[in-house]
Amino acid sequence: MLVVGDGCMHGETIDYQREIARLKKERKAIILAHFYQVPEIQEIADFVGDSLFLAQKAASTDAEVIVLAGVHFMAETAKIINPSKTILLPVLKAGCSLADSCQPSDFSSYVKQHPDHAVVTYINCSAEIKALSDIVCTSSNAEAVINSIPLDQPIIFAPDENLGKYLEKVTGRKMLLWSGSCMVHEDFSLEKLLALHRSHPQAKVIAHPESEQHILKIATFIGSTKKLLDFVQSDDSKEYIVATEAGILHMMNALVPQKLFLPAPSYEENTCACSECEYMKMNTLEKLYLCLRDQQPRIELSDQLIRQAGIPIERMLEI
Ligand code: 13P
Ligand code: SF4
Repeated sequence: MLVVGDGCMHGETIDYQREIARLKKERKAIILAHFYQVPEIQEIADFVGDSLFLAQKAASTDAEVIVLAGVHFMAETAKIINPSKTILLPVLKAGCSLADSCQPSDFSSYVKQHPDHAVVTYINCSAEIKALSDIVCTSSNAEAVINSIPLDQPIIFAPDENLGKYLEKVTGRKMLLWSGSCMVHEDFSLEKLLALHRSHPQAKVIAHPESEQHILKIATFIGSTKKLLDFVQSDDSKEYIVATEAGILHMMNALVPQKLFLPAPSYEENTCACSECEYMKMNTLEKLYLCLRDQQPRIELSDQLIRQAGIPIERMLEI
């Protein structure tokens, strides 16, 4: 699907798609987009993926400029992994409630109180939090990361408590869990989801592990955005209720158009009857065009922070 986005500046109409393609060539840039981005950004991106894939692409690209169509921690991660590149984020204030729930001064004191613990952090956190960590993980590799740590080594897991509880279950490890959460994945209404399931009894419930335990309990399959996509392509059901940010439905519909995907309903009476990330949705074609045109906003981090935060990310990429 190609959506023609055009805007008006000084009376001129701008064909954003054409201009973005032109600027991309001129700046030797690539666009990396997360599955939660609006469809028109996913369509124009060079690569669309989950957090792990975007980090891997940021590490391996030879482009001079990386536009991260996602949120702040993703762009920071790209800068840490590949510091010589110019990293652009279309909207600087595209943050993350999960990253915000773990502030460096609080986390630093917590880590100091547990000096014998290995510190594992979910990639959805700031560079400062990564710098306080032994190893980083994403939802795609979290289980493998936890399993790579010796059994007698106690662990702090931060900042997502829901993912932490899920990992405790699948790995059998007890961990100290930070009590952060993602507002998008905590917004699913179990009552509405069960009602939706009653009207689509054949549908399988599939969920992201950032969701709360009562949602995960009724899910047939739990996984990262990439794993959910792989599942719906290989599984033989025809209908799914999808408990993650609704942006993923675009790729699901594109990959398996013959199946029906229903977004898990949120508590709120919103127009999409789904749960959307207001930060991910701050990026638009216009903002993408402007950031390529102006080469702003850029992600800048100190050399020391890049060095410190790079160590736990490198450890993750080795796994
Ligand atoms: P993944 O794409 O790695 O599953 O992460 C989901 C998410 O919440 C990103 O902000
Ligand atoms: Fe953060 Fe949740 Fe939005 Fe992902 S979906 S960026 S975890 S608030």
